[in-house]
Amino acid sequence: MNNEVFKIINDRASCRSFLEKEIPEDILNKVLDAACKAPSAGGFQSYSIIKVTDKKKKEILVDLSRGQKFIAKAPVSLVFCIDYRRIKRINEVQPSPFNETNNFMNLWMSILNTALSAHTLCMAAESLGLKSVYIGNILNRVDKVSELLNIPDFVCPSIMVTLGYPKSITKQPLKYSREVIVHDEEYKDIEVDKLIEVYKIKNKNWKMKNQEKWINKIYETALKYHGKEYAEKCKNDIIKKGYISTYQYWFGCYYLEEEGFMDFDDYVKFMKEKGFGWIKK
Ligand SMILES: Cc1cc2nc3c(=O)[nH]c(=O)nc-3n(C[C@H](O)[C@H](O)[C@H](O)COP(=O)(O)O)c2cc1C
Repeated sequence: MNNEVFKIINDRASCRSFLEKEIPEDILNKVLDAACKAPSAGGFQSYSIIKVTDKKKKEILVDLSRGQKFIAKAPVSLVFCIDYRRIKRINEVQPSPFNETNNFMNLWMSILNTALSAHTLCMAAESLGLKSVYIGNILNRVDKVSELLNIPDFVCPSIMVTLGYPKSITKQPLKYSREVIVHDEEYKDIEVDKLIEVYKIKNKNWKMKNQEKWINKIYETALKYHGKEYAEKCKNDIIKKGYISTYQYWFGCYYLEEEGFMDFDDYVKFMKEKGFGWIKK
């Protein structure tokens, strides 16, 4: 059984190298139309999509997304935002007892809405020969992204999709299989030895040199969050294995709180200013 939908699901892969080739307007509109067809909580479609093609704006988005240069090369980036502003504006004319922006669960729902819309768009794009990649890093400076795109109150960026024609064929990385992901009737841990085995299989193409600078960085991060004993354990594990694993790299060297990124207090302040009052602090 391998119909067109399964083919697209299996062939989709994040693309980080794009041709500097425009997407014809009718094609882009088609995939944007698909994004508007996704399911949403209450059917409210509490999201908006900001289409960015302007060169200068794309370059600023590169800077706001940890310098991911391919964003500027791709013809378009789409910033998916949670959006309660439309509802608010309709309520100004036809009053209803709206309270969704003060409710954390509704924020959660809206984030899901944006994700479903974004992925519907990505799949539609694939079917037309386009490739995409999500850019979660816009969230590091969601305040600056909002400023750049003139995003008003009750609207907030959630995820960005960079879209274009691929420079070369992209291949989906190995994934955990159904046996690992799916639990029968209730959650059951698989044995840790089995877990390590599937983790190794999933990452078998990962090659990370055992360089001292990375080991030191991982040690430093582990020390900061988990203390000396755990930091030593990390270091000894790398030396024993002879390589740095994916998690050791990502959590020890990449996904770090960096200077200039928003922290928890910044997010709370930003969301409050945008009109979302779900955290009482
Ligand atoms: C919420 C989210 C945020 C992501 N952010 C980034 C990003 O900032 N930069 C990037 O290159 N890839 C990003 N990705 C893409 C993932 O790295 C990619 O989906 C993952 O490695 C699996 O590869 P695949 O998409 O080819 O299956 C993101 C994906 C998701 C779902």
